[in-house]
Amino acid sequence: MRLQGKVAMVTGAVGQLGRQFCRALALEGAEVWVTDLDRQRCQQVAEELPHRGASHHALALDVGEPQSVQEAMAEIKQVSAALDIVINNAGIAVFTPFEERSFEDFMRVLRVNTGGTFLCIQQAAQLMRQQGRGGSIINLGSIYGEVSSDPRIYTDCGRKNSECYSASKAGIIMMTRYFAVHLAPFGIRVNCISPGGIFNQQGEDFVGNYSRGVPMARMGQEEELNGAAVFLASDESRYMTGQNLIIDGGRLSW
Ligand SMILES: NC(=O)c1ccc[n+]([C@@H]2O[C@H](COP(=O)([O-])OP(=O)(O)OC[C@H]3O[C@@H](n4cnc5c(N)ncnc54)[C@H](O)[C@@H]3O)[C@@H](O)[C@H]2O)c1
Repeated sequence: MRLQGKVAMVTGAVGQLGRQFCRALALEGAEVWVTDLDRQRCQQVAEELPHRGASHHALALDVGEPQSVQEAMAEIKQVSAALDIVINNAGIAVFTPFEERSFEDFMRVLRVNTGGTFLCIQQAAQLMRQQGRGGSIINLGSIYGEVSSDPRIYTDCGRKNSECYSASKAGIIMMTRYFAVHLAPFGIRVNCISPGGIFNQQGEDFVGNYSRGVPMARMGQEEELNGAAVFLASDESRYMTGQNLIIDGGRLSW
């Protein structure tokens, strides 16, 4: 119950990793705001969360729309009167080769991933500063914000990594440091989790190719980021800010 009495918001909470984060926070006693594009799907996720004395909420939030982010924060303020933890998890990708990329698609990825993370930090920090009890903001980067993907491994996988996804994640990792510095005077910590590839029914060939590049010789499992999320959200990491925790089975270590 390391998060008892804390109010948390997760963006993109209906997706593969977002649901896991919501569950991990709820298990530690947090009151969780489950946010994503579709409110009904958020409601389903919220209803399935474990209760440890806290209620959970569903909210439609498009992180790429300033007004949507403002309205979400206003609602959280009105209902919960506080916000202690934000996991900026919402993210999108495109899979076509870069030669075919339209500028619209390029900018859409930047807008949602980097822009959405910016808007949520900006608005959440305002609320956290008003309440004066600090906070913890956790962004989702990626190993592909640190290194390029290897184009040779996508033999039976159409979900090729893109230049705009990598650029958006590198931006998030750097913005983590910027906001860690600028929000430290207010007791607000900002850290990043950068996962390696998480298994999600990718083809056998791809899984084999990817795993050969990983010292632990496998892809990650979706629940293997929860420990880091709870650690960064809780006071156990109270002297830690501006860091990028790479959780990749050692992929970037050789
Ligand atoms: N799964 C991986 O292997 C992996 C690896 C590295 C990083 N990541 C990052 O982790 C995060 C979660 O990834 P995932 O695999 O769960 O993705 P996912 O596609 O399963 O979930 C992403 C969620 O974000 C939501 N979303 C999309 N656009 C949005 C918007 N404008 N506003 C609010 N929500 C929006 C989607 O509806 C979806 O529910 C992403 O930021 C992703 O880049 C994932």
